Amino acid sequence: MFISFEGIDKSGKSTQISLLVDWVKQKGYEVVQTSEPGGTGLGEKIEKILLEPSTKEINGISELFLYLADRAEHVEKIIKPALEKGKIVISDRFADATIAYQGYGRRLDIPWVEELNKRATHGFLPDITFLLDISPDLAKKRSGSEEKDRIENEKISFHQKVRQGYLKLAKKHAGRIKVINGEGSVKEIQLRIRKILGKHLR
Ligand SMILES: Nc1ncnc2c1ncn2[C@@H]1O[C@H](COP(=O)(O)OP(=O)(O)OP(=O)(O)O)[C@@H](O)[C@H]1O
Ligand SMILES: [Mg+2]
Repeated sequence: MFISFEGIDKSGKSTQISLLVDWVKQKGYEVVQTSEPGGTGLGEKIEKILLEPSTKEINGISELFLYLADRAEHVEKIIKPALEKGKIVISDRFADATIAYQGYGRRLDIPWVEELNKRATHGFLPDITFLLDISPDLAKKRSGSEEKDRIENEKISFHQKVRQGYLKLAKKHAGRIKVINGEGSVKEIQLRIRKILGKHLR
């Protein structure tokens, strides 16, 4: 089973994934916890380029292809082999992030981005995606004064477009993408996620 977590920066993905991984392992499953960008050796190099503020502004199409290169490598080297061994893969971001950030956020042509995503992933899609939905204002409060990466440094209007993009995706893929209100307590959110996932585990 392939599970992904999505949401704007600081929506609580890492926090919720780490709690969920413990729970799924306790149930006796083998779990591979991974993330984008940067789940592989090449991915880590791409992640640096994408997220270091020193990269400054890059062309939207260059940015798109860097994310796709990271994903193609991630699918081949990490996700596919783990799924073939019957493991549960939990990824912090996957293909939906590219539609939300590069499609809706950077305003690239969405059907085109969807097509490229399909090519990069060989059509691999999560069985279930948890979209942690929070307002960019709250996200900003959560990140406080800590150092921000190149994408986090974008204006609030960019994060607003990304959030709306994610919500549109969730409407379109209502069976797969579960929208979770990410503004409650860590525990509350985790319980909601476990309840939904519990129905998919046997
Ligand atoms: N439900 C919550 N309520 C309050 N604070 C939270 C909640 N969930 C996470 N946080 C805090 O908000 C910050 C961001 O959380 P976290 O790192 O899990 O988000 P993220 O989506 O993984 O962020 P990033 O996009 O930077 O990886 C952390 O300081 C975390 O402790
Ligand atoms: Mg995180």
